[in-house]
This record gives sequence, C-alpha cells and structure tokens, in this order.
Amino acid sequence: MKIEINEKISWVGKIDFELRKFHGDQIATESGSSYNSYLIKDEKNILVDLVYKPFAKEFISNLQKEIELSKIDFIIVNHSEPDHSGALPDLMDLIPHTPIICTASGAKAIQGQYHKNWDFKIVKNGEKLNIGSQDILFIEAPMMHWPDTMMCYLTKNEVLFSNDVFGQHFANPAMFDDLSDKCNLIAETEKYYANIISPFSKKTVKKLNELKSMNLNIKTICPAHGIIWRNNPNQIIDLYEKWASAYQENQITILYDSMYGNTKQIAENIAIGIQSIDTNVVVKVLNVSKTDGSDIITDVFKSKGILVGSSAINNGILNSVAGLLQEICNLAPENKKAGTFGSFGWSAKPIENINDVLAKAGYNVFPEVFKVQWSPDESVLKNAQEFGINFFKF
Ligand code: FEO
Repeated sequence: MKIEINEKISWVGKIDFELRKFHGDQIATESGSSYNSYLIKDEKNILVDLVYKPFAKEFISNLQKEIELSKIDFIIVNHSEPDHSGALPDLMDLIPHTPIICTASGAKAIQGQYHKNWDFKIVKNGEKLNIGSQDILFIEAPMMHWPDTMMCYLTKNEVLFSNDVFGQHFANPAMFDDLSDKCNLIAETEKYYANIISPFSKKTVKKLNELKSMNLNIKTICPAHGIIWRNNPNQIIDLYEKWASAYQENQITILYDSMYGNTKQIAENIAIGIQSIDTNVVVKVLNVSKTDGSDIITDVFKSKGILVGSSAINNGILNSVAGLLQEICNLAPENKKAGTFGSFGWSAKPIENINDVLAKAGYNVFPEVFKVQWSPDESVLKNAQEFGINFFKF
C-alpha cells in the first residue's frame, strides 16, 4: 500500500492495527501504530526510514511495486532502533551496495545490531545532499530519543521527516491529521511525548529553538509513527514547545499498591483531603498494579504533584511500586512536587526510602512521610486527609 503525500513523496510504510504493546511490553498501544517509511523520487531516489522486521517481506514486496530496488540511490536511516531499521538486512541483501545515510552514532548502532559493513555515509548537522530539483538538509537531534536521532528536511517541498519526534502510536489508514479524530490524535501524541520524549525535554527545547532559528518553512511533517501533519504543522511544534517547558496541569496523581487495603485507604483519604480544599484540581488515585504503566507515566507527566505509596514488605516496597518508581525517576521532573505514604508492620524505613528516591530524582519532596503501622483507624484516616491538605499547600 502506498499513500501519496505529493508528486515527489509517497508513504510506503506499514500500519499495524493489532499492535497493543511497544518497546517490548513497556508501552500500551491501544490505538495500534504505524511504521512510516517514505520514498522520495527526484533525480536521485531516496528511501527515508524503514519498518519493523516482522513486516520486512511485505514492505519490500510493496516497495518493489513503486520502484525498481536498484534505482534507490540512498537509504536515510534517521534512527537505528529496530522498529525503523528492522527491514534493513532483508533490503540490503537485495541491494547491498546502496549507501546508508545516518549519523556517526547511527552507523555504530546499526553495525552493533546487524553486524554488517554496509556503505555508511555519515552526515552532520546542517549538511545538505542535492537530489536533483532540491536538497535534503540533515538536522541531528541527539537524545530527542536516542543518541543517533536525526531529522531531515526537503528544501523545495518543505517537508520535515522527523522520525520519532512528533509521532504517535495511532493507526489510521487516512494517515493525515486533517482526516483524523483530533481528540484521539492529540491524546496519543501527548502519551507518546510523555513516555518517549519527555525525559529529554531540555534537549527538546534547545532543538526546537534551533529549528526556529533556521527559519525553515515547514509545510508538512512526516514522522516515523502515526499521522502526517499537513494541516498547520506548527500546531504540533507549538504543542512540543509547551510540553517540553516544565509542563503541568492542575492535576495531582496518587500512585499506590496495597497488600491488605491499608495503603489503599490512606491513598483515598489523602485524595479526599486534597479535593476538600480545591474542587477544581484533578485528583487521580491509581493502583499501579492494575493500571497500565505508560498511562501512569502520562498522568505523572501532566501532574503538578505526585504521591507514591506502598505497603512495606520485608525490607522493601512492593515490586509494582518499585518498578514504577524507577520509571518516574527517569522522567527528569521540572518544578514538580512529590510526597510519600504507606503502611508497615514493623519497619517504616522502606516507605521513608521512597521519599529519598524521589528527592534524588529531582522532585521537590514534601518532608513529612505519612506512614501508618498496621491498619489505620478513623483518626489516622483523618490525619491522612490533613496530610493531603498540607501536601497540596506545600
Ligand atoms: Fe525509537 Fe520509533 O523508535
């Protein structure tokens, strides 16, 4: 299947409607996804990015309907992760001498994954390649996901191929923003930003500023997953600027897991306390062993404050909370407050440790840890509400 973007560019990727998990089982993809590959036909013919290995044969067979493979002059690998480069070995078996354009870091990553000495043409930020009627400008964007991440810009058609940046896991055969449900599209784009790009928000701000200073007229943004932005592509650039700049909504998210319901009761009463002094604040209480981790990360991303609670078990905390804590700590929080609570039998130390971990990760932690030995009675639950109020005011 091909989708024409303009007279020079076609989408030649794969839409996977059935995908429900991505990055192993890390990210839930209820809306499926797509692996976007683009074919540019000019005096030189260029393939921009590929698809995940399970779809390699289908991809190559479809590509052959659009172009004789030997007529592909260059393959641009904007990013070497297997979801985009997985079809490379099968394709290179057929056209082994085709140059692969990527960053220096990309070449190392491709070699590390596929162990082939293909003809790598290393490009640097700002370099151009003439393809006939226009140039391709290469824009390195290291750590706007991976060290090798790169975007490229087609100068006459004014198309930015942004790879994972500006993407979403959103399968839609229409493939364009103006033909997609806006609510779903923005929700999936935000979830994608929260889970994949937000740990690198500081670098994102820098790169967006650099992009602006280049004064590129961008008519279309073609990411490597999901929908193509052709209806005012600045809308997604503006959203990224907002999300990358210490973004928060009027939301507090309470995350917990509970062995016998004691920590759960504390969580619910902290929420009651917060809501009692501000009915406008969104307070979400999420059991982390029953809620998808990538949805939790999206809520954490939106929140101005989080509270993390666990029952103590042996000398530690519940593994569901411990795993999530690690993820939360990778998010490079900016201007977010955090607090800790939980129940214990004989040692509160594991619960107190949660606060230390949050502080080390850069959260502005509420110094009091709300810890309860055995089960909370009515007066303790009232104290939990008071704790919620004090946390909110902190
Ligand atoms: Fe970094 Fe789309 O993978």
